Amino acid sequence: MRRRDFIRTGTISGVLAGSGALAASVHPLAAVGAPGRRTADGDVRLNSNENPLGISPRAREALLEAITLSNRYPSAQHGALVSKLAAAHEVADSQIVLGTGSAEVLQMVVQAYAAPRAKLVMADPTYEAVTNYQRTEAYELVKVPLTSSYEHDLDRMREAAEGSGHPALVYLCNPNNPTATVTPSAAIDAWIADAPEHVFFLSDEAYIEYVEDDRMWSSLRWIEEKRNLVVVRTFSKIYGLAGLRLGYGIGHPDTIARLSDFASRNNVNQLAIAAADASFRDEGLMTKSREVNRQSREMVEATLDELGLDRMPTQANFLMHRINGDLATYRNRMADAGLLVGRDFPPKLDWNRLSFGLPEDMGRFCDTLRDFRKKGWI
Ligand SMILES: Cc1ncc(COP(=O)(O)O)c(C=O)c1O
Repeated sequence: MRRRDFIRTGTISGVLAGSGALAASVHPLAAVGAPGRRTADGDVRLNSNENPLGISPRAREALLEAITLSNRYPSAQHGALVSKLAAAHEVADSQIVLGTGSAEVLQMVVQAYAAPRAKLVMADPTYEAVTNYQRTEAYELVKVPLTSSYEHDLDRMREAAEGSGHPALVYLCNPNNPTATVTPSAAIDAWIADAPEHVFFLSDEAYIEYVEDDRMWSSLRWIEEKRNLVVVRTFSKIYGLAGLRLGYGIGHPDTIARLSDFASRNNVNQLAIAAADASFRDEGLMTKSREVNRQSREMVEATLDELGLDRMPTQANFLMHRINGDLATYRNRMADAGLLVGRDFPPKLDWNRLSFGLPEDMGRFCDTLRDFRKKGWI
């Protein structure tokens, strides 16, 4: 039996055994299978910057309990989670808006700040969702290449945003996806401090919990003073809840009121709320996620260095490295080895974005990379 077939069979029988157990005397948590770090084919997912540890035990338990609420609209629980997040960030409830993933908050911002002759100014490359939402709106898109040290080129972005005097939405992804690099916050703060009001900052901090570089900090310090800024966070990364879809925006009450008009009604569901409530500020989960990420990162960095493949410095749960060849071919060969990696991030088409899995998965990735080198593929 091929290894992948074995994994597939094992997974299916495990699930079946779990569901049968529901009616019997086995603990209901047995119905929840192993962390979904593999696809149904047994492939290891190193392509979507997810948390390979899976959801926390506390979140599993909360999910099972919350199933009984599935016939009820989530408004009451929604309010309770907003209060919890607000208290943690030391802001009022009116300064938080929830989204089905932070992606929905990004969409709200793009829609809320669209205006005739407005510009959308962003780095190149950066996380592309914002451009998807912008296509149906009136923005002129301005992409500004990252600097040679893979930071946002704030001077050029500023010129683009402020030059015309028209409204501008500035997307700042820090750490940046797909490069995992940080832009020093002192420089971002200097711009926010004296930007005109028609420049609106969308500060995407999806990966901030992984950051170890003390040149980066949150833009949250501005939200009391400035209406032209929102900070976006997610439960999809360090909290391991990507499949449940929950993120939020934090800003001035006026800003959040404006964004809320673009949220879909009752957008976040009971299960997502229950799991997020159980995971938020779970120090054990954060520590373990960071530690596992660090081990995986160090293993990958050492292997890339050993093979002489350039890599970008990472402050997140992924990194970009050179592949010395065609990206689609590289990705297909990795998929043949059971490892799903990267996607296209133009203009960096000779680099792969690799998400960190568990150390054992990264060991497999490193062996595969060495094998590719022997074959002259990288
Ligand atoms: C920088 C960044 N922002 C936002 C998102 C969207 O995340 P979600 O909608 O799962 O919160 C992602 C997902 O990968 C991301 O990388």
